[in-house]
Amino acid sequence: MKLEKEILWPIDFRKYSVDFLDESQYLINLLVELKDSGWYNSAEKNFNTTVKGYQPDIDILKIDHPCINSIKEKIIAPISQEFWQSLIKDKFETKEDLELVHKAWLVEYSPGAYQNLHVHKTSLFTAVWTIYREEQEKGAGQLHLHNPIIESWTLGFYQETKKIDSMEGDILIFPAWIPHNVTPCSAKRIVFVWDTIAVPKYA
Ligand SMILES: [Fe+2]
Repeated sequence: MKLEKEILWPIDFRKYSVDFLDESQYLINLLVELKDSGWYNSAEKNFNTTVKGYQPDIDILKIDHPCINSIKEKIIAPISQEFWQSLIKDKFETKEDLELVHKAWLVEYSPGAYQNLHVHKTSLFTAVWTIYREEQEKGAGQLHLHNPIIESWTLGFYQETKKIDSMEGDILIFPAWIPHNVTPCSAKRIVFVWDTIAVPKYA
């Protein structure tokens, strides 16, 4: 697993490159199965920010399968833990009483599908793993992260939008309160997204 750390304006932001071909192929097949079975597309809900895409209404992490276990153990747990540590540093004395809880979903972008500007209000941080990507036209299928701290735009140092072309195997992780969107795709693209919250541990 390769990690590139970047400072996103004054905010920590990370990009990993992973190579989990069996797991991503399992997810791609799962998406096809769900779609063929007529599984409800939550992108059709009015409040959903995904437009024209296919987003099966299911928490992927609830599926009992060796590939899902592998994704939880080898991707979600270490990456989330590392990002969590970078966020909390030594801020909270009670951190040992908290545990991370995740939920995950898949989004298939067909040509013309996009994601409106939004934040993930109820989460701490969000990670987006590109598991499939056909060649896109310039500027298509880009993840845009917008700097919410407008006071930091002075002299153009922290330009307000970071535009990211994610390749297959890339995982981007950022605080869930950063406003973000995806520009319309010109070709197919599939992402696996997970959100993380920290909750008190109960014995
Ligand atoms: Fe999002």
